[in-house]
Amino acid sequence: MIKSVKLRNWKSYEESILYIDSLMIVIGANSSGKSNAVDALIFLSRIAGGAGIFQAIGGDVSLSALRGGMDWVCRKGTNSFTLEVVMEYEENDYEYVITVETGTARALVTEEKLNLCGRNQRLFYTNLQDRELLSIPTYFYTGKPGKRQNFDLNRNTSILYQSKTLQLRNKETANIISELAKQLSGIFVLDPTPNHMRDYAALAEKLSSDGSNIAGVLAALNDEQREKVQKKLTSYLRKIPEKDIEDVWTERIGKFNTDAMLYCKEAWQENDECIVDARGMSDGTLRFLAIMTALLTNEANRLIVIEEVDNGLHPSRAKILLNMLKELGNEKKADVLITTHNPALLDAAGTSMIPFITVAHRDDRGQSHLKLLEDIRELPKMISTGNIGDLVTNGKIESALTREEQ
Ligand SMILES: Nc1ncnc2c1ncn2[C@@H]1O[C@H](COP(=O)(O)OP(=O)(O)OP(=O)(O)O)[C@@H](O)[C@H]1O
Ligand SMILES: [Mg+2]
Repeated sequence: MIKSVKLRNWKSYEESILYIDSLMIVIGANSSGKSNAVDALIFLSRIAGGAGIFQAIGGDVSLSALRGGMDWVCRKGTNSFTLEVVMEYEENDYEYVITVETGTARALVTEEKLNLCGRNQRLFYTNLQDRELLSIPTYFYTGKPGKRQNFDLNRNTSILYQSKTLQLRNKETANIISELAKQLSGIFVLDPTPNHMRDYAALAEKLSSDGSNIAGVLAALNDEQREKVQKKLTSYLRKIPEKDIEDVWTERIGKFNTDAMLYCKEAWQENDECIVDARGMSDGTLRFLAIMTALLTNEANRLIVIEEVDNGLHPSRAKILLNMLKELGNEKKADVLITTHNPALLDAAGTSMIPFITVAHRDDRGQSHLKLLEDIRELPKMISTGNIGDLVTNGKIESALTREEQ
């Protein structure tokens, strides 16, 4: 699994590490850099999945641009960024580094390498002498001293992605490259948008990042899986609204059965049931359903990122949401990273979650920093005066971080 991502000259970050765990909560004021950190995960997922570097940032016909596109991807005043990923695989840690240089109409790899941590063994690395070249000489470890394998690769696509199709002599190297590409391309970032979820949706295997095809994804499951998933959705969802939701399901529609609609059954009074389709469902209900569907239908052992996870959810339901994330995440052996502004969610998390809370914060030069809450020196003193939610509401965590920087 991915353990951390270091961001260097990425958007508002000069240098900072985003740690990932089974459940990591990222908090911070508006504009502190939460979504900028999430954007780095989107970028990595795109380039590991084969998108060109330029397209991964600027977008193309099938891909939306990263927020800010080419103009805002490097930290202001710089024209290159570096991302460093640490992945744990079969009890070893591997470090993957990619540096990209951007120009007016281009974004190219200037360095990329994959090392086995600890022993500093290089599985592949690039060595660029001439920055004007469009190809990049890349060297792969073969296991035999002095016998590297060399390839000239394209600078507009990640070396990681290109390596998957090469005939590498060292099977272990090929295996680790394939695992890393799988982990990174499998990162799923969900930003559920209820208004996009109200329409009929075409059958689909994968949930889209706005959750718009939720009905299509559920309807495309085989009968047994769909039954299981819908049962789970119902069991969690019934705890959310004021009154009971008895059932959640999808139905295929249209002459060719290629589209689907989402329904739920509300029970207000005995013998008085009301069926509601997605068009009539509340924003919070749809967001909650999209989050659960992402967890239940995504591949196992992957990282799922949910932006503003509790948007539209009543504070009294924060605990239910957290429990759901923990339980479904565990079932899928997924890592879950969420961003939030909500003090109620932090209070629901309680002190046992302190090691799994990251605070995004801008210093007085405007650089973003990510700091684990437990690493804030004044935390023990602050906790004795109030719970985490209060500390956030009163801006005490930010004040402590500012004092630490002085
Ligand atoms: N290339 C860049 N260089 C410097 N700063 C940047 C760059 N790109 C974005 N920023 C800064 O990042 C800020 C936005 O950060 P981000 O979107 O991550 O905030 P957030 O923590 O997600 O906030 P919210 O809670 O409002 O969603 C902008 O206000 C801008 O100042
Ligand atoms: Mg944001």
